Amino acid sequence: MTNYADLLAHVTIFQHLEPAALERLSARLKVITFPKDGVIVSQSDPGDSMFIIDQGRVKVVLYGDSGREVILSIFRSGDFFGEMSLLDGQPRSANVIALEDARLLVLSREDFVQHLHEAPSTALSILAEMSARLRRADEVIGNLALLDVYGRVARVLVELARRDGHTTDEGIVIRERPTHQDLAAMIGTSRETVSRVLSEFQRRGLLSMQGKTSLLSHGFAEIDIGPETASSS
Ligand code: CMP
Repeated sequence: MTNYADLLAHVTIFQHLEPAALERLSARLKVITFPKDGVIVSQSDPGDSMFIIDQGRVKVVLYGDSGREVILSIFRSGDFFGEMSLLDGQPRSANVIALEDARLLVLSREDFVQHLHEAPSTALSILAEMSARLRRADEVIGNLALLDVYGRVARVLVELARRDGHTTDEGIVIRERPTHQDLAAMIGTSRETVSRVLSEFQRRGLLSMQGKTSLLSHGFAEIDIGPETASSS
């Protein structure tokens, strides 16, 4: 049996656990894989399990009647999702789609409840993580109402730089920049507008892009976007 204790030790809600508890939890997980674009969770479906990402990135997305999409969050290795239906017994609140081939670990409600009996402190960690996600959702709502489209594109780039970027002499490099379409869906605008704003940032020397890699100038990456949340989402 594969041991996922090392991965679990990096998941925010489990990182406080002792090695023995991580081992016990690891034994309860099942592996499931999805190809790129695979639908992992469908909004409104019943759900009684949560997922931990071992490999690949996923997007949490809502679809409007016209097919337009809004991306609520992007998760990657070490993140978890699907906890909302598991906790409140309601249908899935959003769709979760694989952005690339993904390998996930599944924890059923029954096994999660069993784990909580053995390690009640996980309940506090889940509350902390859900607060962090609510803070981020508050920020996104505020940005939609308060920032113009330049501010929203800038903010999402700075957030990506903070989470995934690495610093070089020239600036901060983001390796896996989401597509223009996905950036648009993250900030409630059109792909064309995102392309126009990114071109403008490039023209002003704030940003350069090559394939999926972007380089944010130091000045740009240091824009104050408020406090860092504990969540990696
Ligand atoms: P669940 O409702 O079971 O299935 C969809 C999942 O998407 C949900 O659990 C959360 O894990 C995740 N999710 C829903 N809304 C958000 C959000 N605003 N930010 C981050 N994750 C979310």
